[in-house]
Amino acid sequence: MKKYNVAVVGASGAVGEELFRILEEQNFPVGNLLPLASARSAGEMIVFKNQEYKIEELTETVFENRGIDIAFFSAGGSISEKYAKYAVESGAVVIDNTSHFRMIDSVPLVVPEVNPKDIELWEDSGIIANPNCSTIQMVHALKPLHDLYGIKRVDVSTYQATSGAGKKGMEELVQQMQDFFAFKLDETEVKAFPHRIALNVIPQIDKPLENGYTKEEMKMVNETAKIMHTDFAVSATCVRVPVLRSHSESITITFGSDVVVDVQKAREVLANFENVKVIDDLENSQYPMPTTATDTDFTYVGRVRRDNFAPNILHLWVVADQVRVGAATNAVRIAQKWIKLEN
Ligand code: A2P
Repeated sequence: MKKYNVAVVGASGAVGEELFRILEEQNFPVGNLLPLASARSAGEMIVFKNQEYKIEELTETVFENRGIDIAFFSAGGSISEKYAKYAVESGAVVIDNTSHFRMIDSVPLVVPEVNPKDIELWEDSGIIANPNCSTIQMVHALKPLHDLYGIKRVDVSTYQATSGAGKKGMEELVQQMQDFFAFKLDETEVKAFPHRIALNVIPQIDKPLENGYTKEEMKMVNETAKIMHTDFAVSATCVRVPVLRSHSESITITFGSDVVVDVQKAREVLANFENVKVIDDLENSQYPMPTTATDTDFTYVGRVRRDNFAPNILHLWVVADQVRVGAATNAVRIAQKWIKLEN
């Protein structure tokens, strides 16, 4: 089987580390591996398939003559902005985890279960963008329901884990909890989020925009339209919660006024959708939670119910591991489809 030389930019970060795990678990046909990060972690070792690899510093010339086929970027938007072009120039396809290229027309934005064909456009720019974590798990649930009934409007509130802010986000939650138990919460450091996250919820993720929404909320709106090739209305409220690494979403979906939602049918199409699992038995307190999803590659759906007042409205609860489904796993799934396309 043909092997592919793989670079990982952000190799020491939360998503980068998970990428190595997933590439190994999936037995991805990795030839040479090139882990890259900043000068801070250059020289550190990572282990892949029982072999040690040294992290190298990301520079403008590091891709030259390395024969990289696939470069995963997970080191922040400004790094992708500056360095992705060097990977592309060297002949690699860049699979970018940041928001930097997502809304550029010539760059496909891909959730492989939803719009795999868009990968074919990769040659226009050499880049395939990985959507925002909250968008990925939401469209996993929306796509089969849109195919079933035709969506008119989506209202979503998210409960997003600290992993969305990378390792420093998770570490800040842990540190603040330690400070709480040491009776030092008043003096705890607040850096990764606009407020203390321990024992709190914060209704702001990313920068405020003029329309009263945040940048994260508008990512969910704009990316959903681009991935699903739809123009139905989406309104999002994105909230940070003191959870380590799986995002939850409460989603209200409005279909056309003549639709009478069949909840059993909705559960069925969701359960049959690729990489989605339905756990929905309220009587026995069975529904997905962050503890259900963490360390798995599935998007879980539960609490599926028809609105009490309008038969064309469906409510549901969606949970997925932000680091895996919302980032690294989606990127690897894109790479797997890209390989199929190339052969
Ligand atoms: P480093 O560890 O050298 O700072 P996370 O999302 O978990 O915070 O991880 C961010 C990742 O992006 C890390 O691997 C980090 O490497 C990497 N990174 C940050 N700044 C740069 C940079 N200027 N050049 C290359 N990699 C960077």
